[in-house]
Amino acid sequence: MQRLPALLALAAIVAVMMLMVRLGKLEDRLMRFENANGGAPAPAVGAPVLAREPLQEVAPYMGRIQNYLQKYVLATRAGNEKLAYFYVDEIEESMEAVADMDLIDQGIPISAHMRTYGLATINTIEDHMKEDGLTRADADLELLVNTCNTCHERTGHDYVHIQLPTNSRFSDQRFEP
Ligand code: HEC
Repeated sequence: MQRLPALLALAAIVAVMMLMVRLGKLEDRLMRFENANGGAPAPAVGAPVLAREPLQEVAPYMGRIQNYLQKYVLATRAGNEKLAYFYVDEIEESMEAVADMDLIDQGIPISAHMRTYGLATINTIEDHMKEDGLTRADADLELLVNTCNTCHERTGHDYVHIQLPTNSRFSDQRFEP
């Protein structure tokens, strides 16, 4: 019978531990919800659930990536290897920023897709350039544009079609070496 207090204490400890695990899980769910909600705080219980805002964080990076892709193409066409490499590196940095957001949007793992599609391809292109300069540039550009479009399909943005630019919109920058 002397064991009873010890047993009770043990039971209390186990109960507290279980409670902490449950709290941890709840916190995880809340954080995931906030993430899916574009970083906005979770609405109070009973508040009407409003339609989600479009992702504010990814679009500016996409604009940058699009800009750098154009410049990468123009540098490549002008045979400017150093400049082309510079822009490939810029694309990579913007893609990394999206990957580092750890963003899941309505169940779609945006950041994970960025690693699988965007970063994998841009790293391959960087390797090609380190090995062979611009010799594989034509195929690499096709590959990159396909990757953009594949990821747009995977993330529910199949209406964003990327293609190689037909001409330069930068009258204020020369791309020749
Ligand atoms: C995660 C995979 C992913 C990859 C890889 C990707 N995108 Fe996107 N892109 C997105 C998402 C998600 C959106 C929608 C962003 C939003 O909802 O605000 C988007 C939107 C865009 C838009 C429309 C917004 C704007 O600024 O006009 C453009 C343009 C764009 N991407 C260009 C590109 C280009 C160019 C590439 C390839 C070099 C690329 N994207 C690769 C996921 C990706």
